[in-house]
This record gives sequence, structure tokens and C-alpha cells, in this order.
Amino acid sequence: MENKKIFRASIINPRNHAVADCFVDGAIYTEDGIIKKIGYFSDVIKGCENNIETVELDGVLMPGFADVHLHWVQHQVRGKYSGELLTWLKEHIWPEEASYIDTGKAGQAAEEFYADMLRAGTVMGMSYSSPHAAATEIAMQKMRGDWIIGNVLMAINAPNDLTDYSLHDPILLNEIMMRNDRHHYALTPRFAPNLSTEILSYLGMIAVQTSSFVQTHLAESNAEIAWVKELFPDAESYTQVYDKAGLLTPKTILGHCIEMNDSEWQCLFARGSWVAHCPSSNEALGNNRMPLEKLQEYHIPYALATDVGAGPSHSMLHVIQRFIAIHRKAGIKISFQEALYRATLAGAEAMNRDAIAGNLCPGKRADFILLPSKQKNQSWDGWFSECIGGTMSELEERPQGTWLASERAA
Ligand code: GUN
Ligand code: ZN
Repeated sequence: MENKKIFRASIINPRNHAVADCFVDGAIYTEDGIIKKIGYFSDVIKGCENNIETVELDGVLMPGFADVHLHWVQHQVRGKYSGELLTWLKEHIWPEEASYIDTGKAGQAAEEFYADMLRAGTVMGMSYSSPHAAATEIAMQKMRGDWIIGNVLMAINAPNDLTDYSLHDPILLNEIMMRNDRHHYALTPRFAPNLSTEILSYLGMIAVQTSSFVQTHLAESNAEIAWVKELFPDAESYTQVYDKAGLLTPKTILGHCIEMNDSEWQCLFARGSWVAHCPSSNEALGNNRMPLEKLQEYHIPYALATDVGAGPSHSMLHVIQRFIAIHRKAGIKISFQEALYRATLAGAEAMNRDAIAGNLCPGKRADFILLPSKQKNQSWDGWFSECIGGTMSELEERPQGTWLASERAA
């Protein structure tokens, strides 16, 4: 017997960067957690049997968020520290990540992480683990929602308790690549300073051979770039370090990309790689604004992300608020349709899951959230502004419910 449900509420469904379908008194009809119909309630119920469970909701339904760049092992200390990237990493973040050798801590932190993400409306994303194979396995096993995870690969220029070869266990890495859940795994070279040219090239070769996802950081701060220049004197640019290693593919998601020159943007476009744009993190660490106009000029695909724990909040509503505010100060106006798309469907596209997730179109997984109601005479634009207004903790609590495959999850 199929499990059939109708969810009745107003609905907003992003279609692309410029268009979102809006239904006042809309409905979604689902079978076994898959969307079969979406539209106005009166249209959706036409042709449906009349004994189907109908869930009446007071608010606006939209797809759950996709967060394409965060560090689940930094969730417990998100927003707790700030300062220049490299000092912040060495003094605060690396010691915190080293503590994930404790599998008890990892288990508890993973449960809290997934519960918090669902409460804040995030149903999918890409996550960096610590270097530890065991902590990464725990994050895979406790997964709620649809995540791509990788243990950060760090071999040099970091404390021994993170670079110890036995931690990231290349055999385990291989095993994961052979398993059928490998579409939940990403090769995760932390960033160029932690790896040699040889290891980067080796990872590039594996990425291409296995068509794996790759996630890493690129050009986040000026001090980082100076360090990369010193470590890779033969490379023309930071981007070229990765490109020469073969790490830039359409399944590569690059965090930040702030301090880039034109030939680097051209390279990203040519390779089809994605940018994970993390405005709240950039603001918190005092990095420069990511030049959105360059992404637009070079047609670089991008999606939004929290970058927890540099990002102070795991809420994508908070990221959207900062995204719009930061670029507006630079004279760039972002429409609500664009912001919605970058926080949902664009992330699913980066994760190669847009055929099965990312918005509420028929055939996709019924992963959605409920936001506060729209007032009768309010425009959708006005409703959206209200949804992304307020303090960080208000934004974390704003979703009134989250469903995964038609089942209430938070
Ligand atoms: N670059 C290398 N590692 C990190 C990290 O953990 N967070 C951020 N924001 N940048 C990084
Ligand atoms: Zn990061």
C-alpha cells in the first residue's frame, strides 16, 4: 500500500535564479515520500481519491535548505572564535577538531548536529569532518537528511594529531569509494597548505577515476594566499595549484573564492566547478566581500552555505539575510527568487541531486519546511523580507516544521 498524503498550505517553489512559483492556498500531493503533484489546492485534489490523509498547515511551505559548505566538527564551537583565518584555525579550530578522536564525543556531536540542522530547516548539504576516519563513519551512520561528507585530508603544516597518516587511513577511504553510499562521500583536501603537490595530484587522479565529489577551500584570505605562494612558488595562482593537480571538475565545490584574479575565474568557468558562497563566515572572520559581480560576469555556478563554525549560525535564513545585506552595501540588489534558489535548488545542483531534490517539483523527494504565514495583502517579496529579518537565534527558530520524504523530522 502506498502512503499517500496531501499537504495544504501556501507554497513557494523556486524554479531557477529568477523564477519562483507561488500558490496561495496550494497543496502538495505525495506518495511514499515522493511529490506527485503541486499547485493550487483545488487543482491538486482533482482526480485524487477522497480518503487521502490531508495535513492542513498554517504557513508557507518551501523546499528545505541545502547548505553546501560547513564543518560538522565545528558545530559545537560555531561563532565562538573569530580573527584572521590562519590564526583562528591554528589556535582554536584545529585543537577542537583533534578532540574528535574521541568517538563518544563524535557520536553525541553528530546527533546534535543533525537535529539542529533539521530544526533550522536544512535537509541536505556538504560537510567537512575532522581527519578521523572513525568520526567520519559516525557522521555517515547517524545521517538525517541527505549529506555528502568527507574527512579532511591534511598531511603537512599542521599538528601531528591531525596529520597522523593512520587517522585518515587511505584504505578506509578506498573502501568508502567502493561502497554504494559513495555518493555520500567527498574527497576533502582541506586546503592547499596542508598537502604537497604530489598528494594533491594523487587525489586529483582518484577524483577523476572514480568521478568523486571534491570539496576544498580556495582564496579565502590574503594571508592564506601569501602562504600558498610561498609553498607553491611555481604555480601562477592558488587556483592553478588545484587545476594542475586535476582537482577541478564539475563535481568540485570550492569554498569562498574571494581573492581571485580574472584568469582564475576563467579557469573555474572552463572546468565547470562550483563556488560555495559563505557570506556570514566571510563577515565573521573579517575577510573581504566575495565579488558576486565576478561570478555573474564569468557565469560561475554557485550556492550558499553557512561554513559553520567560522559562520556563526547553522541557519540558512541567517546566511540569506547576510547575503542580501552584504552585497546590497556594494550596490548589488539580490531578488528574493535568487536568494531562495541559491539556498535550495542551486545546492542540489552542486550535489548532483537536482533530479531528485532541491525544490518541490513532481518526481522529487518531499523534503520541505514550513515558514510563517503570509499576510493577506502582503507581497511575496514583503513576506520574504519578514522571514529573513531578526536576530540570529530568531532565524534559527523560524521554521515551524521540517519534513523529510513526507515524514515530520523536526
Ligand atoms: N581553510 C582551511 N580550513 C578551514 C576551515 O576549517 N574553515 C575555514 N573557514 N577556512 C578554512
Ligand atoms: Zn570551510
